[in-house]
Amino acid sequence: YAIIGGTGLTTLGGLTMKAALHIDTPYGAPSAAVLRGDYAGREVLFLARHGHPHRIPPHQVNYRANLWALREAGATAIIAVNAVGGIHAAMGTGHFCLPHQIIDYTYGREHTFFEGELEHVTHVDFSHPYDSALRLKLSQALQAERAAFSSHGVYGCTQGPRLETAAEIARMERDGCDIVGMTGMPEAGLARELVLPYACLSLVVNPAAGKSRSLITMAEIERALEDGMSTVKAVLARVLAR
Ligand code: HPA
Repeated sequence: YAIIGGTGLTTLGGLTMKAALHIDTPYGAPSAAVLRGDYAGREVLFLARHGHPHRIPPHQVNYRANLWALREAGATAIIAVNAVGGIHAAMGTGHFCLPHQIIDYTYGREHTFFEGELEHVTHVDFSHPYDSALRLKLSQALQAERAAFSSHGVYGCTQGPRLETAAEIARMERDGCDIVGMTGMPEAGLARELVLPYACLSLVVNPAAGKSRSLITMAEIERALEDGMSTVKAVLARVLAR
């Protein structure tokens, strides 16, 4: 497995590091070195999506380099960890979601490996963006940890780095989005282009814009991340140990 750590997970505590792989790709450098090590008794790869320390905003992450580097390092499946805002009433702060669908509202991101002069124009099937076997394993691990979670949900991916307006969230809700984040795409699409099974473990860290009476603060987000990360680590350990 490869784990892509998002906001709040720039290091994987408990990882016995064996190597820090500095991988160059045809698309440039990934966000950080790919760490190879043992976690919960299994070999694992880890990459900090926003760099380590956290310094690359979601719209400037080199998603292509990140995915390419993970594949180069030998990844055969990817678990992505994301902090998200909650749209659906069930998605309160601290709740986990294993999205089964995604809607892409981003723009201007390098989002495909299939461009330029190609021998064959390729349109990958993306009907079901997330791997159901991986989602099932994550769901069993969340259950074992007695975490509050939803085994389904629609992830709406916005461009950022600003948060959304209340009207944007209302529109996303009408579109069917349950959670909102800034890093779900193009990551999931690129994983599909590389034929890497991919799933997201999303932690709700704030009510989305207009979903609570107060404004969204970084302090509340950081608090929720701190509270949720021990469960994230325990869940990852359970999935890897199986
Ligand atoms: N919107 C978009 N991305 C996010 C949010 C949000 O409210 N919270 C965490 N990531």
